[in-house]
Amino acid sequence: MTAHPDTIHWIGDLDGCCRLIEQTLLPAEFKEIDCQTQEDMWDAIKRLAVRGAPAIGVAAGFGTVLGVRNSTATSASAFLEDLQKTVDYLSSSRPTAVNLFWGLDRMRRVAHAAGDISVPELKQRLLDEAKAIWTEDRDICRRLGKHGAALLHEGESALTHCNAGGLATADYGTALAVFFAAQEEGKTFAVFADETRPLNQGSRLTSWELHNAGIDVTLICDNMAGQVMKEGRIQKIFVGSDRIAANGDAANKIGTYSVSVLAKHHGIPFYVVAPTSTFDLNTAHGDDIPIEQRDPDEIRRGYTGGLNAPADVAVYNPAFDVTPHEHIAGIVTEFGVIQNPDTEAVLEHFRRNGCLADE
Ligand code: MRU
Repeated sequence: MTAHPDTIHWIGDLDGCCRLIEQTLLPAEFKEIDCQTQEDMWDAIKRLAVRGAPAIGVAAGFGTVLGVRNSTATSASAFLEDLQKTVDYLSSSRPTAVNLFWGLDRMRRVAHAAGDISVPELKQRLLDEAKAIWTEDRDICRRLGKHGAALLHEGESALTHCNAGGLATADYGTALAVFFAAQEEGKTFAVFADETRPLNQGSRLTSWELHNAGIDVTLICDNMAGQVMKEGRIQKIFVGSDRIAANGDAANKIGTYSVSVLAKHHGIPFYVVAPTSTFDLNTAHGDDIPIEQRDPDEIRRGYTGGLNAPADVAVYNPAFDVTPHEHIAGIVTEFGVIQNPDTEAVLEHFRRNGCLADE
């Protein structure tokens, strides 16, 4: 296996399929599945076979192609109606990662801007765009890694939560890209990975990725993070994000907020690493970010399916929480670091890097 496995990619031409790693089985089994229809892709996103905000953005592109490639529309306007149905359908898979909606919107815009071309040409244009999202994501992750690695100094140890690695992107990752880049630069450092209940993306995916790459990684249960910080073992925190509001508040896997509170208490810099496609400038404040509620059995049974609570006990299972920007030392994007993020700093970063749609 290569250092960074191909999380999701397209096989062949328009009549091909989208191949992705079935992440629910990792690390016990490495298996790939082929999505042939938009329903396959919806299901893969919902079940977390493909997961992590940027990877979901890539899935949105390929899922759109799967949804419209067999459209029997003969006019561009009828095709655009079919496209909208696919976009609406895929939008309903998961609510929090804004990259899903970003990817779908990008596909929709490309089709609408295509002008006077035939339906077969429109289909091909959409496949090209989905492949472009995939290619760009790989490049962006490497840029995130480079900017983030500058924040991790020789001999330091960092904590991460959930999985913001190659498995959460086209490859290489966001928060974990910092560690891959630091390793490539020859730095000596160590990583503590939170287990990340209830679905254990930290133990199943992050420790698997870092361990495979030969990075010094130590797995801890979520409730150990405070003690590990108190013992002076952590100098930096790096996490990914699913949606960043205009004021810099960042949604990420449940438990991230608790880590940020602990980091603040212990005076440890807390960094969010995410591409600009993870920002939602239409959402002013983190309180307005929709938080996915998931199946209670994820807590009663965990990811293995074995009962570890009364089968009918009441459960509250929010999949994400929001870290207020006051707890964030910096947000690393593909363009650099937004230090002490707030509405003004985020806007200035977007403006300076030409990311505002109307400029
Ligand atoms: O529910 P998941 O596994 O999709 O949650 C993923 C996370 O919370 C990641 O930390 C986030 O998407 C950033 S991925 C680069």
